[in-house]
Amino acid sequence: MKTTAASKADSSCVHLPTAESARIASTGPKPVEESLGPPLKWAGGKRWLVSDLAQIWEPHKRRRYVEPFCGGLGVALGFRPRNALLNDINPHLINFYQQLGRGLRLTLEMRNDERNYYEHRKSFNELIKRDGSQTPEAAQLFYYLNRTCFNGLCRFNQGGKFNVPFGSYKNINYASDFYRYQRLFESWTFSNGDLAELTLEQDDFVYADPPYDVEFTTYSAGGFSWRDQVRTAELLAAHHGPVVLSNQATPRIVSLYQKLGFSISYLQAPRRISCTGDRTQAREVLAVRGL
Ligand SMILES: C[S@@+](CC[C@H](N)C(=O)[O-])C[C@H]1O[C@@H](n2cnc3c(N)ncnc32)[C@H](O)[C@@H]1O
Repeated sequence: MKTTAASKADSSCVHLPTAESARIASTGPKPVEESLGPPLKWAGGKRWLVSDLAQIWEPHKRRRYVEPFCGGLGVALGFRPRNALLNDINPHLINFYQQLGRGLRLTLEMRNDERNYYEHRKSFNELIKRDGSQTPEAAQLFYYLNRTCFNGLCRFNQGGKFNVPFGSYKNINYASDFYRYQRLFESWTFSNGDLAELTLEQDDFVYADPPYDVEFTTYSAGGFSWRDQVRTAELLAAHHGPVVLSNQATPRIVSLYQKLGFSISYLQAPRRISCTGDRTQAREVLAVRGL
């Protein structure tokens, strides 16, 4: 993660805050204006955190809002900042948002049917193989697969093929248009890459929600290792402006964030989808710095 030259110093849930979150949530939850939910299902979505985070964001809302791990946009859509830089390493996710900002129209047949699903999955894999992954067609297929596949997972095999099976849901609501997203997304900047490639302005407000730390393993299911957790925290600790980090409250994460000068509070995360299908509750840490 770089800073600009001007910089002097060198990221359908229930909200269940615990008493420990009271230090941050002391003024009570702030209502989120006219709601616009995430258009995709995304593992680790933080929509449930918006009311707590809104109180931290409020005094900084004139700043540019930056999310290095934007995922499903749970928080960005809760805040609706005027100026935002939203990044994720997943190129299909970012293409989808960019196409929405350009006025994506749905022409694909959206049907919750197993045969239709596997045909669309095949078309998507053929398209990304022949370099068509950054097109409106790929964005539509990605949307359809995300809504229709098992658990909204985004998983590829070693050959680079999307391989999530059909979800077998009784009912799926597919959007008929993305008009409301277009108006918002055309004024936001989306980028696709590793967080270290982001160029930050010294006044940026950064909210970072990296993949959860999974303790006792070197590599998590999402391919985000302990070394990635450490470099993320170090990069964010070097940012001049306000930073908020959320993660699973494993002992080593809490110790890392504290060592780097973050102030810590805890929340109880609601049920969540994960790559393994695990839906157990997790204790979440909220780490803040430079507020
Ligand atoms: C926990 S999710 C973020 C969820 C998001 N806050 C939301 O509300 O939906 C973490 C995201 O980090 C992305 N990611 C993983 N490794 C990354 C990296 N090295 N740089 C940037 N993004 C990365 C993943 O693709 C995933 O979307």
